[in-house]
Amino acid sequence: MHVSFNLAADIDAAMKTAAAASGIDAVAFLPEVRTADPRHGDFQANGVLAYAKREKQNPRALAEKITTALPDEIKARFDTAIAGPGFINFTLKPAALLEWLNTYGTAEKLAAGAASAFAGQTWVVDYSSPNTAKQMHVGHLRSAVIGEAICRLLEYSGAKVIRDNHLGDWGTQFGKLIYGFKRWADKEALTRDPIVELERLYKLGNEATPDGSSALEEARQELVKLQRGDYDSLELWKLFSEVSRKAFEEIYERLAIRFDHYLGESFYNDKLQPVLDELQKLGLAEESQGALVVFHPEHPRFAKQPFIVRKTDGAANYATTDLATMLYRAEHFHADGIVIVTDFRQSDHFEQLALTTQKWFEKTGRRMPKFNHVTFGTVLGEDGKPLKTRSSDGKAIKLKELLDEAEERALAVVTAKNAERPEGERFTDEECRAVARYVGIGSVQYADLSQNRSSDYVFSWDKMLALEGNTAPYLLYAIARICSIFRKAGVEPGDTAFEAGASALETPTELALARKLVKFADALRLATDTLRPHFLALYLYELAGEYSSFNNADKVLTDDPAVRARRLMLCARTYATLDTGLRLLGVRTLKRM
Ligand code: ARG
Repeated sequence: MHVSFNLAADIDAAMKTAAAASGIDAVAFLPEVRTADPRHGDFQANGVLAYAKREKQNPRALAEKITTALPDEIKARFDTAIAGPGFINFTLKPAALLEWLNTYGTAEKLAAGAASAFAGQTWVVDYSSPNTAKQMHVGHLRSAVIGEAICRLLEYSGAKVIRDNHLGDWGTQFGKLIYGFKRWADKEALTRDPIVELERLYKLGNEATPDGSSALEEARQELVKLQRGDYDSLELWKLFSEVSRKAFEEIYERLAIRFDHYLGESFYNDKLQPVLDELQKLGLAEESQGALVVFHPEHPRFAKQPFIVRKTDGAANYATTDLATMLYRAEHFHADGIVIVTDFRQSDHFEQLALTTQKWFEKTGRRMPKFNHVTFGTVLGEDGKPLKTRSSDGKAIKLKELLDEAEERALAVVTAKNAERPEGERFTDEECRAVARYVGIGSVQYADLSQNRSSDYVFSWDKMLALEGNTAPYLLYAIARICSIFRKAGVEPGDTAFEAGASALETPTELALARKLVKFADALRLATDTLRPHFLALYLYELAGEYSSFNNADKVLTDDPAVRARRLMLCARTYATLDTGLRLLGVRTLKRM
């Protein structure tokens, strides 16, 4: 028989069938199936309550009716119980539990099981997207890390993902930068650390051009020249883009991020006017106080605060580019979904963008992709204020320096741990550094991804590098420990031959671990559907906890071959799940630590 990857989805479908068979309006009824508190079962359906309340029916009676009408195929796999005012709890029968574990026994089979949810869909994910001629600082970390995890989650669920780095590579800042560049560029600094030099030149250019000054007028003229396509100005601009991209790619490399496209703002320069013309012709955009704007009368705020698509000086802006970007992604990439990852301060912009695009596409018979603005909070220091350098200049921390520090601090942890190992098993210094790179970067990524992205989070080296708690080192060590059991047993975790002759799961800790393994599918679905990787992180942490209880209570490498085989089976499943899960979060894993 076919065993579904996502058991919660099976229950959901069965509940709807049962509801229809019991005369309930199956369209209005949402079963709301989710992972249950393990004390009550494996899954819980909560939807009966809301439906009964709406329809003024007795929820318990309704729950009983639906439970009785459940298809036999579900009853054969689950024990059901009605709890409280009308929750329905589903507990996998031991045979069904084992069946799932055997069907989805390796990383490859898990992947195959997951890959149907978004099959056939194309998603464009716009993340990181920093502005050029500047170094990335800690604020840029979240978009990159969260965006990459989202790409991997969508890909794992079967979507074709297009990673697009929408660089901020066009705009008024280039007038001042060129002004500064022409006067104070230091050739030697430009070859040594070009992006630092560009930052310095922009700063000088900006300081030298106060409002109302003739210098500002000169900087404006530089911008006009660039926009008109003056050869020398464009050459300079190309240089800025090249060195920026090189510096960004060094960071992406360390974070294991690879973009398919770098279609920055400048890419859309020649695609802006047609968009404005179309919006105006459709009557969506109108002139208001010299600007071209789109009002959304039905919206509580945007009825009065319009979306400005062309400024009073006639120039296009961020909104114009983003409208052209929406069109390009819909038409050129045939996107079914678009994700843009930025901090929450851009929420209004993207809400207006989505509203405007929706109306525009509807009027022109285009299909509107699902649009998701994925927001995140601020990275805070331990003082609760936005994270800054410790030095007195109070600048935001450069991302490069942050990653260096992560590797350095991880090296201390790894070296200390290494010294505890028996002489013959120790890493060389070189190996320690390689492990520290993974642990250090992984800790920074995981610290971010283990938080609900909507919240601010406190950046704490001690917490993220701790070997206990919901941290990367804790999970990475759990994986390494499982691998060491397999090394001792002389088998590979991916090789299922050793499982022949395994006896049935028996001890409470074996069963608890097995039940947790089955929930991977639901955690994955939740994280992917909500585009919130922390749901997966939390699941992995809890799974590692169940594994550690199991490992403390039940000796894996016992002399009884049947017991040993079933326990090794659980180790192999845990390994596949933790390893897959961390990789989905973008964290690189190790077999030895
Ligand atoms: N460059 C922008 C910034 O640094 C982010 C761009 C996000 N993507 C977009 N299509 N607007 O804030």
